[in-house]
Amino acid sequence: MKSRLNTNKMRSLKRRGFDLGQTPDLPRPEQPTADAVQQAWLNDSAIVLPSLLNENIQKHAENIQNSHKLMQNVLKTAEITPFLEQAPYQERIQKNFFLVAASPEEHDEQGIEKIYFDAFEASKQDEVVAEELWCKGSWLSFHEEDASLRFRFSWGMEGYEDVSADPLKQAWAGKLCDVIFPESSIITQNGAILGYLSSILGKKPSFVERIVYFNAPNGGAQMHHDVERGHAGVVFAQLSGSTFWLAITKPKLMNEIISFVSCPQHQADIEAVLPQKEDRQVLIKLCETHDDLSCYMEEPDHELVEAIIDRCPAFIAQLVENGFAHSLEAGDVLLLPQRDLDNCVWHSVFTLGDTPGEALSFAVR
Ligand SMILES: [Fe+2]
Repeated sequence: MKSRLNTNKMRSLKRRGFDLGQTPDLPRPEQPTADAVQQAWLNDSAIVLPSLLNENIQKHAENIQNSHKLMQNVLKTAEITPFLEQAPYQERIQKNFFLVAASPEEHDEQGIEKIYFDAFEASKQDEVVAEELWCKGSWLSFHEEDASLRFRFSWGMEGYEDVSADPLKQAWAGKLCDVIFPESSIITQNGAILGYLSSILGKKPSFVERIVYFNAPNGGAQMHHDVERGHAGVVFAQLSGSTFWLAITKPKLMNEIISFVSCPQHQADIEAVLPQKEDRQVLIKLCETHDDLSCYMEEPDHELVEAIIDRCPAFIAQLVENGFAHSLEAGDVLLLPQRDLDNCVWHSVFTLGDTPGEALSFAVR
């Protein structure tokens, strides 16, 4: 079958030392109608809102520049707090937050630093309104040539607390993100995004569990989902640089895996990423029933599937050919519905180009 994609211009997909082949330049999508956005969300499909943020990015050029500088300083020093205690951060933070403590996160190999804050209301005699809020900087991988990092905003004991159980703390963690990265309002005050999400959720959305990413060349994210109790999905905004995405709802991803694994033509590709015969046999067995495959994919270690979906260039080419790839340029938004474990958009990210780019990834509740 002849490819529907323009293969004249190809771009390399590289992530953490793995060469995942070449991808054709994807055609720019059209701006979807409000109806199409809602339908896509209800059908658990990822949808791109191209160039939606172009004007806002210009307005926030200085903030985006400051964030880039902060990222470079963190890269150089592997510290965050000293920079938050200087202009332009200190003054903005002090209006509503006390810096309580900073932890070097020695137990977490990817952790750079976690900074704890309490929030106070200046209009109420500085009354503390939310405690144990934090901003945590982390490396995105252990690979030496991947300089990607992220800043995550949340509260409480990481990995133990049900963060959705306290909407007030979630809201204040969001405000902490606003003061450190004021370009957050590109999402949170965007009329189009608020309009789409309000009609999908039936209420005004809150943007919680925020992450500010700096994806560098050779970086990105492996296939995963972001299902979390109380959250409906994720809004991703590319503010600088560009990224390549594979985004596909879990039932369709399972169909793609099953058809790939059972195709005689792909046996050599599978053998290249799963050299042990026993591993390939277990994978074939898992692919016999959707339930077994689905449960296996939810296990923290699902290496047999990861080998295919994250490291096999022929499988990635199949997803691209079947229409599950998106390229994001600065100004583009990607909506990722995350209904539940069985019906959520799994997604994987590659950095395109030679420079690190900033992106906002906010959960919606
Ligand atoms: Fe994600």
